[in-house]
Amino acid sequence: MLVLGIETSCDETSVAVVKDGKKVLSNQVSTSLRLHKKHGGVVPEIASRMQLETISAVADLAIEKARIKLRDIDLVSVTNRPGLLGSLLVGVSFAKSVALSLKCPLLGVDHIHSHFYANFLDAKGVKLPFVALVVSGGHTSLFYVQDFDKISLLGQTHDDACGEAFDKVAKILGLGYPGGPQIEKLAKQGNPSKIKFACSGTKGELDFSFSGIKTAVLYYVKKHADCSMRFAVSNAQQAADIAASFQESVIDTLIRKSFLACKIKKTNRLVIGGGVVANSRLREKFTAAGNTAGINCYFPPISLCIDNAAMIAGFGYELFKKGFRSDLNLNALP
Ligand code: KG4
Ligand code: ZN
Repeated sequence: MLVLGIETSCDETSVAVVKDGKKVLSNQVSTSLRLHKKHGGVVPEIASRMQLETISAVADLAIEKARIKLRDIDLVSVTNRPGLLGSLLVGVSFAKSVALSLKCPLLGVDHIHSHFYANFLDAKGVKLPFVALVVSGGHTSLFYVQDFDKISLLGQTHDDACGEAFDKVAKILGLGYPGGPQIEKLAKQGNPSKIKFACSGTKGELDFSFSGIKTAVLYYVKKHADCSMRFAVSNAQQAADIAASFQESVIDTLIRKSFLACKIKKTNRLVIGGGVVANSRLREKFTAAGNTAGINCYFPPISLCIDNAAMIAGFGYELFKKGFRSDLNLNALP
């Protein structure tokens, strides 16, 4: 079964063709990132305008690279939630028109759930049930996955998302956007135990809070660094130590909470997805801690961590097999 996946929840415009929920035949991703850089974050109007302009070309390329004809598509699977409203609407409207013209079924899927599904693409996959951790620019959530249509939320962030905290700390340190990769790079030169930054406690033991640690970094920089640079630290080693110490504390918190979720749910399978999982220190630390605790940690390949349509096609295939369908009233749910 050939599924056309469409993903436009944030700044990416992505279209993919996936066979039987697993084999990625093509996965085209076009990003408007360079247009947002000077604003220090994604500007929704710019993102949706670029998506409107590029989606047809991206889809044509995805079909061509998959070496199929558009009429071979059996299902159109599209991100319809959550995300930026204008961006989601571009993908949903495009998906509807393709499904209508091909007279094939349409399915709207959840972007966050699709992130952990990336672990099932071009891979053997993981036995159900498992605990899933999704760490992206917009979300930090822990789920218990009994099946692809039986997903319960165990905990989530009550303020900043994990990737958002990386982006904001990068801004405080005077680094560019997106901040995650820059913090990771800078942290490699730093000492992770130099400064004690801690993530705030939460009422729910499986919830997260990253806004406090971001503010702690801001105050630390204000107090210890040269403020004439408008909060951008002028001492390179100090900046690296801040990045490393912040990153270490965030990763330790993610490990502690997701391992606790595994303990509570009595499973030794932890499936992780989302943009932040591109972080190599996070992968190393989860793997090492998992070896000690007897928990198997699964990550998607780096290329499937960031937003992409292959995960949307794959997850849509699983739900379609279970009888899920959308109709042309499908709407975007930000
Ligand atoms: O999943 P994603 O592509 O988009 C959302 O659904 O939000 O995640 C983007 C986020 C950004 O906040 C970015 O800074 C973060 O993932 N990120 C990273 C790394 N690469 C991307 N965070 C930490 N380390 C990285 N290497
Ligand atoms: Zn995402």
